[in-house]
Amino acid sequence: MAKEVIVSFTLNNKPVTAKVPDDLALVDYLQEEQGLSGTRLCCGIGVCKVCTVKAQRAPSSQGQPMLACSTPVALLQGQTITTVEGVGSPQAPSKVQQAFLDHFAFQCGYCTPGFVMATTMLIERLRVTPVAKDQLDKAIEDAVGQHICRCTGYAKYYAAIKSVILAEGGLVK
Ligand code: FES
Ligand code: FES
Repeated sequence: MAKEVIVSFTLNNKPVTAKVPDDLALVDYLQEEQGLSGTRLCCGIGVCKVCTVKAQRAPSSQGQPMLACSTPVALLQGQTITTVEGVGSPQAPSKVQQAFLDHFAFQCGYCTPGFVMATTMLIERLRVTPVAKDQLDKAIEDAVGQHICRCTGYAKYYAAIKSVILAEGGLVK
């Protein structure tokens, strides 16, 4: 039987303290306790990457992809978590979200939050360490290549990601 634990972390720039069963998955906590339905559940076993959020061990550290379906909230003590709701909103979409809209990159949209988070983290990494132009496609593939889109909109996603990276300037050397 799961035991309850108390965990404190930062969620979309707000401090939270939660008393949760030690086996409660982050995606269930986000949807049921925080009303944040943007982080989706699909395979539930770490394969499709739909549930990707950003995790930082310290607020200033580089964000790393975290699979919310496979991560217990109990393990988040002291971490900083950002979900798609923390990246942009319908009224003020991020550059990545706007690029996906402009390129008609998604159809049903179920996979889109995961693509948004992975692309956002890729851009943050490139701001620190720009990539050689001939390595850009590989960098994109490394960032989102394991994300599954059942509507198979990969080409438009990749075009949108490339466009937003090239538009920013300084990310490609
Ligand atoms: S739902 Fe988390 S990887 Fe598929
Ligand atoms: S847009 Fe439908 S699963 Fe990707």
